[in-house]
Amino acid sequence: MTYSSGAHAIRGCIAHCLHDPGEGDDPNALEVYEDGLMIIERGHVVRVGPAEDLLPTLGDNIPVEDQSGRLIVPGFIDTHIHYAQTDMIASYGEQLLTWLERYTFPTEGRFADRAVADETAAFFVEELLRNGTTSALVLGTVHPESVDAVFEQAQARGLRMAAGKVLMDRNAPDYLLDTPDTGYRESLELIERWHGVDRLSYAITPRFAPSSSDAQLARAGELARRYPDTYIHSHLAENRDEVAWVAELFPWSRSYLDVYDHFGLLRERSVYGHSIYLDAADRRRMAETGAVAVFCPTSNLFLGSGLFDYEQTRRDGVMTSLATDVGGGTSFSMLRTAAEAYKVSQLTGSALSSARMLYLATLAGAEALDVADRVGSFREGREADFVVLDPQATPLMARRNARAESAADTLFALFILGDDRSVHSTWVQGVCQHQRNNMGQHRSAGAVVDGDRRQNLSATCC
Ligand code: GUN
Ligand code: ZN
Repeated sequence: MTYSSGAHAIRGCIAHCLHDPGEGDDPNALEVYEDGLMIIERGHVVRVGPAEDLLPTLGDNIPVEDQSGRLIVPGFIDTHIHYAQTDMIASYGEQLLTWLERYTFPTEGRFADRAVADETAAFFVEELLRNGTTSALVLGTVHPESVDAVFEQAQARGLRMAAGKVLMDRNAPDYLLDTPDTGYRESLELIERWHGVDRLSYAITPRFAPSSSDAQLARAGELARRYPDTYIHSHLAENRDEVAWVAELFPWSRSYLDVYDHFGLLRERSVYGHSIYLDAADRRRMAETGAVAVFCPTSNLFLGSGLFDYEQTRRDGVMTSLATDVGGGTSFSMLRTAAEAYKVSQLTGSALSSARMLYLATLAGAEALDVADRVGSFREGREADFVVLDPQATPLMARRNARAESAADTLFALFILGDDRSVHSTWVQGVCQHQRNNMGQHRSAGAVVDGDRRQNLSATCC
């Protein structure tokens, strides 16, 4: 096999999911090459396999990035995150509805100023990369320019991103309201400007049922029919008071989900954050329509919303993905988010294996966003988005990793203990877009130990 002149390769412990390991933790779902090589051409994966088999096929002029001792996994996919809430992460003391009023709405009001949007979007995209996230489904604010700002930043760094202007025409401060008509028109203009450009897609984004009138939800449904390959992105059944409020606002509805169903907002590529308080009929309807439920464990715990039952949701055939939900969520890290998913799942009756956590952080997101033919694994032809993870990022992690029994065990400890410190570098379409700097240093017995040189490994990317 011959490779083109721009081809390059990366060597390390390569792990990716081929499909959902499921409750039985199917051993064939996780593919691991302990000393693996991935060959990349024009930003895409051409081959993955054992280094000893593939190195001889390379010839002399194909550079190999040596990351031996580190783990190489697909770039993380965050399927529900609010970029405009970056600055209000970790806001004290409230549950959903009062948290929105006290912190969220005033923060989002600042995005009427394009300069605030630009500056926050730049920080946000950098923070995604610092945490190994290479694809995301993002909410902007009601201001259409907020979406221009985040798309521009994502485009500049090559990220795969879907985003949308929030639709909200009631039950919020006046300075954050649009109308059914302006919301429709502004969304349509954003779709025409951004949908399908590079790796960007549009998400029609009614904030949640209480903040849209019937007329606005109907127009959102109209837009969703007119552009069937856009996403629909909203919140669903997150908090008990919210669910009761929806029952009051839409007295004819059978359930919260039924409101979205009524307005034509359930279809493939419709993605619903939280989805905690659903009954069996709701879950059946989600499964039938191909709608996605998003598990947001750090947010659900932080806002005291409740425990999402991942196993039950899956068992009922609902496609389920994982997300940070910053700023209700408390971390940009999908490693930490998966660790919280593990703990919540312990409380709902199951223990997620490292393969299942890796699936949730990568391929599940790709499937939820209907882009598993592009990202989420290292199958041949996929876009080469990947993260190099350092299992020895801190003294404790190094100590735990020294006792690891297998790559799966290393991965498990990485998920449970890891965070942005564990991300050595983040690569987007084969290009390094972030490399840990001396923030990766840590102190040990009074001395500064360089996390990179300590392992005497080359770190030649970027
Ligand atoms: N429901 C409506 N808006 C929001 C929001 O901004 N965050 C969360 N977590 N839930 C919501
Ligand atoms: Zn949210």
